[in-house]
Amino acid sequence: MRPVRSASIDEVRSYWDRQPCNIRHGLAPVGTKQYFDQVEARKYRIEPHIPRFADFKRWRGKDVLEIGCGIGTDTINFARAGAQVTAVELSGESLHLCRQRFEMFGLEARFYQADVEKLSAEVPVEPYDLVYSFGVVHHTPDPRRGVEEMMRYMHPGSELRLMLYAKVSWKNCLIQLERMQPEAQPDCPVAFTYTARSIRQLLRGLEVISIRKDHIFPWSIPEYSQHRYRKVWYFRRMPRPVFRICERLLGWHMLVVARYPARA
Ligand SMILES: C[S@@+](CC[C@H](N)C(=O)[O-])C[C@H]1O[C@@H](n2cnc3c(N)ncnc32)[C@H](O)[C@@H]1O
Repeated sequence: MRPVRSASIDEVRSYWDRQPCNIRHGLAPVGTKQYFDQVEARKYRIEPHIPRFADFKRWRGKDVLEIGCGIGTDTINFARAGAQVTAVELSGESLHLCRQRFEMFGLEARFYQADVEKLSAEVPVEPYDLVYSFGVVHHTPDPRRGVEEMMRYMHPGSELRLMLYAKVSWKNCLIQLERMQPEAQPDCPVAFTYTARSIRQLLRGLEVISIRKDHIFPWSIPEYSQHRYRKVWYFRRMPRPVFRICERLLGWHMLVVARYPARA
């Protein structure tokens, strides 16, 4: 586990308040229905592994706690699938848009502005069927503390689904060569990266069911920023099956499923 930088929780909060994650995924006025539809279409176009990993329909009628919901793309899909959702987010700006999105689509959830490292001080401790956190734990200054807090919301049979950044990945090579930054907005204050081994260490006390890699970003950035999709030349020439093998070996997203053990 290696931080890109390290910082205080206040710096982390103000970074995500300045530019909530995926805020530029839509071109329509922010907060409109068209905007949220554009955000979702773009997110799942460039990260098609997310709906597969979250498996929204599986959580129908179940209690889902999402940590670091951002502007709520996955959150609203859990709710649409029929889950009872509790959404937690450090950034007030992001949470505001997430709430607005739920209102816009006539859906309900419980919302809390809270730091995962101090979750139980803000969010009532109750067992959930799923604790879900996509791309969040590696952005908090003390990830183990965050995991320990999340474990308080699990009971035997609860699942934890996490996405963490992969140390051994194509994107991390580009970051190390200073050809890319971990996030769309520069100067992300905290972004740890993990190996399968350091994930098992981070999740000690839980039973890790699976860890796999996915997601290489193949798009040319200048065109992508203009909402056009043209792959960089070497990915353009790469046959799809070869690209999928590369994603399995060098993807940026470590997709982790863990369970609360029967006897903890
Ligand atoms: C890369 S974004 C992912 C957002 C969302 N999960 C998604 O996939 O669209 C990281 C999110 O984690 C949130 N975050 C960072 N540290 C946190 C903490 N300590 N507690 C709660 N949320 C946190 C940020 O505010 C930000 O919205």
